[in-house]
Amino acid sequence: MITTKGLTKVYRSRGREVTALHGVDLHVREGEVFGVVGTSGAGKSTLIRCVNLLERPTSGTVTVDGVELTALPGDEQRAGRELREARRRIGMVFQHFNLLASRTVQQNVELPLEIIGLDRTQRRRKAAELLDLVGLADKARSYPSQLSGGQKQRVGIARALAGDPKVLLSDEATSALDPETTRSVLKLLRDLNRQLGLTVLLITHEMDVIKTVCDSAALMRGGRVVESGALTDLLADNSSRLARDLFPLGDFASGHPGRTVLEITFQGDTPAQPFVSQLARTYQIDINILGAAVETIAGRMVGRMRVELPGAHADNVVPIGYLREQGLQVDVLDFDANGAAA
Ligand SMILES: Nc1ncnc2c1ncn2[C@@H]1O[C@H](COP(=O)(O)OP(=O)(O)OP(=O)(O)O)[C@@H](O)[C@H]1O
Ligand SMILES: [Mg+2]
Repeated sequence: MITTKGLTKVYRSRGREVTALHGVDLHVREGEVFGVVGTSGAGKSTLIRCVNLLERPTSGTVTVDGVELTALPGDEQRAGRELREARRRIGMVFQHFNLLASRTVQQNVELPLEIIGLDRTQRRRKAAELLDLVGLADKARSYPSQLSGGQKQRVGIARALAGDPKVLLSDEATSALDPETTRSVLKLLRDLNRQLGLTVLLITHEMDVIKTVCDSAALMRGGRVVESGALTDLLADNSSRLARDLFPLGDFASGHPGRTVLEITFQGDTPAQPFVSQLARTYQIDINILGAAVETIAGRMVGRMRVELPGAHADNVVPIGYLREQGLQVDVLDFDANGAAA
């Protein structure tokens, strides 16, 4: 649904150059919620602004819903007709809502409908529908100053949906909100994604947001995407930095030299069966549990356990094979003489 290839953005101001994006390749599938995380200055906002061409990339291509936006005529000041139409199919939600204070909630939602050229009756009907969808039907006549932060963001979302977009872009839409309100706004985004089949590309600096609503994620650093994929795939990858951040295991004890330490990951449908006791019984071995954690990520249960078996790796090939046959992901950790994971 959204594909960027070799996306590069260089900002030039007062003789200085800042390369905000270095050849970013991103692929967001239709109907998914895709999250981008990264530290401040990593290039996240630049990336999202390049996706709807609010910012012209220096090089590379952006394709949304089969249309290569970067091939359409228009510059930063004046977009051509085709580009304006393509943009209408891309909604955008901002951190600070960007509502007009002098207009009522309904008039704020009607604004993009005026630009499209709908008449008064059509605008009213559409705005009422949208406000109902975001749970604000009773606030149509209020002014932004009379709303809470969460309600303002709901207006921002209703306005973003005015052009019946297939794609919604969100730049830190919840970072000005308290945790409770954040949860309800995230739930709204998730519901809209499911009900309308809306593809959502969101930026956040909170791992919790990724955990709660995203199907896939990308990690950005210094203008580059250093890792990306479906959360379920990332979690199954022992070397994934994002998976470590989503599901930290830092507090687990390391093993003892001369023994075998395993990290066992189970997801979703794999029954959280008592595999440890089965293993102990089947092979008559003592198993030392070093740590365990269970989390719900993207609506699926994911568990991880670190266990220690007596003997070296070579002595445990059969029990490890047994665990893998049960559908569990098993990683053998190597520890050096000091007990630190290699
Ligand atoms: N209009 C601009 N002119 C010049 N440099 C810019 C401009 N916008 C962004 N930059 C620079 O580009 C880099 C990436 O900025 P960007 O806003 O995309 O980061 P970000 O990941 O969104 O950060 P944050 O988490 O703080 O919002 C930064 O070094 C920033 O200073
Ligand atoms: Mg930003």
